[in-house]
Amino acid sequence: MEIRSERPADVVAICELTTLAFKNTAHGSGTEALIVERLRAAKALAVSLVAIEDDELVGHVACSPVTIEPDQPDWYGLGPVSVRPDHQRLGIGQALIHAALDELRNLEAAGCVLLGDPGYYHRFGFASDAALTYRGSRSRYFQRLFLRGTSATGDVSFHPSFDD
Ligand SMILES: CC(C)(COP(=O)(O)OP(=O)(O)OC[C@H]1O[C@@H](n2cnc3c(N)ncnc32)[C@H](O)[C@@H]1OP(=O)(O)O)[C@@H](O)C(=O)NCCC(=O)NCCS
Repeated sequence: MEIRSERPADVVAICELTTLAFKNTAHGSGTEALIVERLRAAKALAVSLVAIEDDELVGHVACSPVTIEPDQPDWYGLGPVSVRPDHQRLGIGQALIHAALDELRNLEAAGCVLLGDPGYYHRFGFASDAALTYRGSRSRYFQRLFLRGTSATGDVSFHPSFDD
């Protein structure tokens, strides 16, 4: 399996893959593919990596800048992350997320946040944090990972591309 940055020729396949991956999930909103498109159009896809196996796109992960109030620069949000259903639970998601975090380190990111299942993201070091809230409240699903430094305080907003 190869992991590399997205290319223009991947755009349609990323959209299809994202739709397919979230289609039968309880937490999917059906807007994940649109969010990736909007991030790309807004030039806010800070990281967009694809996983390729046998010349087919089997996974994708996106990262985009987030804002924290009061302002703390260089924080990013991870997601959506998608693995083609017939390739799930083979380690592709983990490989993509590790690669995305490496890309964020290269960008000298201070940290990364996400909304997701703690049972999955705990393995990468993500944890919920009373000091870092989402929409004014703490949730076990809203988690952060420090990439530089050891603390951050405030309320986080994802890029407007995530808004309904
Ligand atoms: C979540 C997703 C990206 C994980 O990718 P993957 O390639 O299937 O996962 P991996 O093979 O890297 O990891 C498998 C491990 O994660 C666990 N796992 C996978 N999905 C999980 C989930 N939703 N919740 C908890 N654990 C999960 C597996 O049990 C397995 O654990 P183990 O290593 O202890 O055996 C993928 O399943 C997917 O695309 N799901 C649909 C879209 C989605 O929900 N995206 C994430 C939104 S937050």
